[in-house]
Amino acid sequence: MEHLQTQGIGLPQFGLGTFRMQGEVCRAAVESALGLGYRHIDTAEMYGNEDAVGAAIAASGVARKDLHVTTKVWHENLAPDAIRRAFEASLKKLKLDHVDLYLVHWPSRNMNLPAIFETLLKLKQEGRTRAIGVANFNLALLKTAVEEIKAPIACNQIEYHVMLDQTKVARYLAAKSIPLVAYAPLAQGRAASDETLISIGRKHRASAAQVALKWLLDQDGVAAIPKASRAESQRANLDALKLKLDDEDRKAIAALPKDKRFVNPGFAPAWD
Ligand SMILES: NC(=O)c1ccc[n+]([C@@H]2O[C@H](COP(=O)([O-])OP(=O)(O)OC[C@H]3O[C@@H](n4cnc5c(N)ncnc54)[C@H](OP(=O)(O)O)[C@@H]3O)[C@@H](O)[C@H]2O)c1
Repeated sequence: MEHLQTQGIGLPQFGLGTFRMQGEVCRAAVESALGLGYRHIDTAEMYGNEDAVGAAIAASGVARKDLHVTTKVWHENLAPDAIRRAFEASLKKLKLDHVDLYLVHWPSRNMNLPAIFETLLKLKQEGRTRAIGVANFNLALLKTAVEEIKAPIACNQIEYHVMLDQTKVARYLAAKSIPLVAYAPLAQGRAASDETLISIGRKHRASAAQVALKWLLDQDGVAAIPKASRAESQRANLDALKLKLDDEDRKAIAALPKDKRFVNPGFAPAWD
């Protein structure tokens, strides 16, 4: 599997999302994914499943050095001491001595960005996280983080799929060689029933979901973290890497309406 080189780490381009999976369901799904060859697991304190993710990792026998684990601090915990407490709690639940990537999960309107990055950077310098990054940062916030604060962010994790245009943020990230980690890469499952994608898939003996994932993974500097609880879907999603889309396919996907944002909580700064 390809790795995106960023801020000293190799980020596996393809990973497993774990939002809305908890307890035994989550443990089993992560264990299954690791068994199939997934090496990048995405979790967050807010998902309430770090303990299950940790149990699956411990049981998997996969060497720690071969595994990439991302977790995130929730927007209510962005004061420096709160970040510390959240981070320690996450590590303990994950049963790890370090994570690979620690992200600000959502920006909040009253956050102190320099203080946040100072705290994250200390965690990195202490070797508790190999890299730091952000999620759900719009262009203005990204510019502040990168150009004013000069924070060494290893990614921006944002909603990105065939139904949502992210050109503005994607161009900026590409110019700064910062990976874009696409969350909800299947448009929360909706991509699987899109008629255009189904017909492209038919041509290649692939599913619509696989077409949606390969469209993302064909883009430079883009990683994707589809969530799938069932082993068949996990395997199918991994197999999407083998699919070869052609120009006609890309043209048809480009023509899909791209105004559908499915994740937009009220507490965060506006997107545009
Ligand atoms: N940073 C953030 O603020 C943020 C926000 C949202 C999500 N995320 C991360 O991104 C991950 C992915 O996003 P998401 O879970 O919202 O949405 P998603 O990955 O786009 O879609 C997940 C849905 O697609 C279904 N699915 C998976 N593979 C499929 C296949 N091959 N064919 C048909 N259906 C398939 C899943 O079904 P089953 O579960 O039944 O298998 C599930 O219902 C999350 O789990 C989380 O880790 C981050």
